[in-house]
Amino acid sequence: MAVNSTSLAVETSGLVKTFGKTRAVDGLDLAVPAGTVYGLLGPNGAGKTTAVRMLATLLRPDGGQARVFGHDLRTEADAVRTRVSLTGQFASVDEDLTGTENLVLLGRLLGYRRPVARERAAQLLAAFGLTEAADRQVKKYSGGMRRRIDIAASILNTPDLLFLDEPTTGLDPRSRNQVWEIIRAVVAQGTTVLLTTQYLDEADQLAGRIAVIDEGRVIAEGTPGQLKSSIGAGTVHLRLRDAAQRPEAERLLAKVLDTTVQPEADPVALTARVGGSGAAVDAAAAGSRALAELAGAGIVVDEFSLGQPSLDEVFLALTDKAAKAATGTEVAA
Ligand SMILES: Nc1ncnc2c1ncn2[C@@H]1O[C@H](COP(=O)(O)OP(=O)(O)O)[C@@H](O)[C@H]1O
Ligand SMILES: [Mg+2]
Repeated sequence: MAVNSTSLAVETSGLVKTFGKTRAVDGLDLAVPAGTVYGLLGPNGAGKTTAVRMLATLLRPDGGQARVFGHDLRTEADAVRTRVSLTGQFASVDEDLTGTENLVLLGRLLGYRRPVARERAAQLLAAFGLTEAADRQVKKYSGGMRRRIDIAASILNTPDLLFLDEPTTGLDPRSRNQVWEIIRAVVAQGTTVLLTTQYLDEADQLAGRIAVIDEGRVIAEGTPGQLKSSIGAGTVHLRLRDAAQRPEAERLLAKVLDTTVQPEADPVALTARVGGSGAAVDAAAAGSRALAELAGAGIVVDEFSLGQPSLDEVFLALTDKAAKAATGTEVAA
C-alpha cells in the first residue's frame, strides 16, 4: 500500500510497559514520519527493545496509545502485523539451514510458490553479498553475514515498516558499513525503518529524525542538526603554520573563548569548544573574535573551521541535564 510521505508510520502517546517494578517504557511519545529512517537512540536499558516489541505487537502495552499506519495497536493488531517486520523475531533464521534454504522456507511460509520463493531468495542473497555463502549453513556465517541474512529474511515481502533493533551492535566497521548500505537501499524502496541504536554516529549517518530516549522516555527529538544546535555550542578547529606558536595560540584561544583548548596529535592542530552546554553562545562571533586575536598576536592560521558539536556531546549534555532535573539540582529550562 502506498503511504503518503507526510503521514505517520508510528504514533504513540504515553506508551507504558512495566516489568514488576521496572518501568521499561515510561510514557513514550513518538511521531515517526513514513518513508524515512527514524532513530531511537539510547543507552543500554533505555527501553528501546521493549518499545519496538510493543510496536511489533509482540508485547502488550500497559498504558497509553499507539498507532501503526493509523491502526490501533490494541484493537487492530492483525492489521499492524501485516504491515511490519522485525529482524530476528518474525523472521527467525534457522542456524542449521543454509542461506538459500532459510529464505525459500520463509518465502513459502509467506505464500510464495516455490519457483518465486527461489528467485526472491537468490535476488536477496545477491543484493546482500551472500551469493557465495548461499549454500552454507547459517551457523557457519560470520557476525556481519548473520546480520545481513537476518535483514534479508525480514524484507522477503517488502514491509511498510521495518524494525531494526541494534542491527550493527558488535559488528566490525566494514560489516557496519554494509548493513548501513542495506538500510539505505531498503528505505529507497519505500519502507519506513525504525532503527534502534546506541551509536550516535549511526543515528547521525542514517536517521532523518532521532528520538533520544533515556529511562523509557523521550528526552529530546529532532533532526541530527537540530539536536546538535540545541546544546547551543560549536567546535572550532584550527591548523597553524608554525607548531612553535601553538602554546601561545592555545593560551589566547582559552582566554577569548573562555574554554579549554585541546591540542591534537598533529603538532599544528587545536580544537576548542565554544560555550558550555546549554549556553546561548554565538559560535560564529566567538570564532571570529578568536581569529582576530590570533592575527593580532602574529600567529599564522592556515585552516579554520567552525563545526557543530558531535552527537556524542549532545547525548552527554542531554543525559546529564536529565539526571540533574531528576535529582532537582537544575531547574528545567
Ligand atoms: N522481560 C523482561 N523482564 C524484566 N525486565 C525487563 C524485561 N525486558 C526488559 N526489561 C528491563 O526493562 C528495561 C528496558 O530494557 P530494554 O527495553 O531491553 O532496553 P534497551 O533495548 O534500550 O537496552 C531494562 O531495565 C531491562 O532490564
Ligand atoms: Mg535492546
